[in-house]
Amino acid sequence: MTSVGIDAMEIWTGKLVLDLPNTFAPVKGEDPEKYTKGLGLHTSSFPDVYEDIVTMGANAAKQLMDRKGLTPADIGRIDVATESAFDNSKPVSTYIAGCLEQVYDGDFRHANKGERKFACIAGTQSLDDAYNWIKAGRNRGRAALVIATDTALYERGDPGEATQGAGAVAMLIDEDPDLVELSTEQGYGSMDETDFLKPNQQFPSVDGKRSMQVYLARMREALEDYESVAGRTHPDLFEYIPFHTPFPGMVRKAALLGFRHMTRDTDIEDDLEAEIGRQPREEDFETWDDYEEAIRGYMDELKTTEQYRDWYGRVIEPTLDISSRVGNWYTGSVHIARLSALIAAADEGKDMTGKQLLVGSYGSGAQAEIHAETVQETWLDEIEAVDVDDQLAARTEISFDDYELIHDVHNHEKEIEVEEFTQPEAEFVFTGWGRMNERRYEYVE
Ligand code: CAA
Repeated sequence: MTSVGIDAMEIWTGKLVLDLPNTFAPVKGEDPEKYTKGLGLHTSSFPDVYEDIVTMGANAAKQLMDRKGLTPADIGRIDVATESAFDNSKPVSTYIAGCLEQVYDGDFRHANKGERKFACIAGTQSLDDAYNWIKAGRNRGRAALVIATDTALYERGDPGEATQGAGAVAMLIDEDPDLVELSTEQGYGSMDETDFLKPNQQFPSVDGKRSMQVYLARMREALEDYESVAGRTHPDLFEYIPFHTPFPGMVRKAALLGFRHMTRDTDIEDDLEAEIGRQPREEDFETWDDYEEAIRGYMDELKTTEQYRDWYGRVIEPTLDISSRVGNWYTGSVHIARLSALIAAADEGKDMTGKQLLVGSYGSGAQAEIHAETVQETWLDEIEAVDVDDQLAARTEISFDDYELIHDVHNHEKEIEVEEFTQPEAEFVFTGWGRMNERRYEYVE
């Protein structure tokens, strides 16, 4: 069987950075610890005046192509996942291909281009599309470029404003991948939900608290569905579990739920029995509400146990580092969680070859998907080549007033002239609109 998965990945962060506890929270009259301890966020990335989803995606893709020594002829498919698109017809992938064609010999004339939409899960769905295309033998020896790119902005004053972010992840999907192989087995939890949506509007309508409940419910269903094809999961099977991370506090909740589910009827439940009792069973309760209350009580105790805290610190915490420094990247979020974990493994000198990851993706509206990944022998070279820390350290810090200006610059309803905060260098930039209102880009040396 051909092994298919992620051969390499690169990121491109928005070039501005906002300090949430020290700059944002005081103006909002909020306790900084709501950010650092509650949401688990320290800073978030924002795009400069000349950046948008196309420039960030094209810049990440160019880094990837340069590093892997690729030309357009090596790519048979470009899929862009985004929930920040500005055109209902022309896909962002055509703009990104147009950018890349400015700097490479050859073109993407014979590559299949598309745009995937299902909120934040679209990045993973694009991986699936590329995987299926290769497995079906339609790729003619070529690889797929999957780009997840978003400017996650909320209406000013919306509670979601605390969780904003901007950046892109570019991934090369290929046979015999150098980073991770994707499992054939997948599980889904999918329902028609109205928790977070953008009905022909740039900024989302969000029912924040409900969106968190929907995330957890769909993720649980996806895990059960995954187990129905892959067999029972157990916390010790997976070195890391990267989840979609709208903010790290959300993953805290998902991880606890996942751990409870995975430990039911296992040695871990037996070990914990003396300390916190066995998990409540639905058949022992007369009503669903009573059962749920008992489950909540059990989880409150479970999260204080040494077993859980140790597992969380090893398997979940390392997935959250990048996210806590960049905010929500929507379609790219789960992919920076994977990257974060593998960087942590590299820093610790862990041997990851053959180790399993369980990846939990989520998109509002709503769908969760779970699949496994097997880390490949060459993973360390791939991870050491990604310059996350350098990119994050190079961001320019903005004040609250600057933040408001930048928010307005990227608001499609507003037209304001603002000087850029940084000087572009060796990257694609947005240069204005063309005669059909298309966005235009050029490469700056
Ligand atoms: N010290 C420590 N912790 C504090 C604190 C303090 N001083 N102040 C507050 N906190 C804690 C709160 O207890 C809370 O934690 P728990 O949920 O564990 O209780 C956390 O910090 C957040 O505080 P609030 O609930 O008061 O925050 P809020 O009401 O302002 O909004 C939110 C939180 C609903 C998530 C909001 O940011 C939002 O709407 N975000 C956008 C929607 C979203 O991200 N939903 C996630 C699921 S949907 C999804 O994943 C798709 C996607 O990407 C959008």
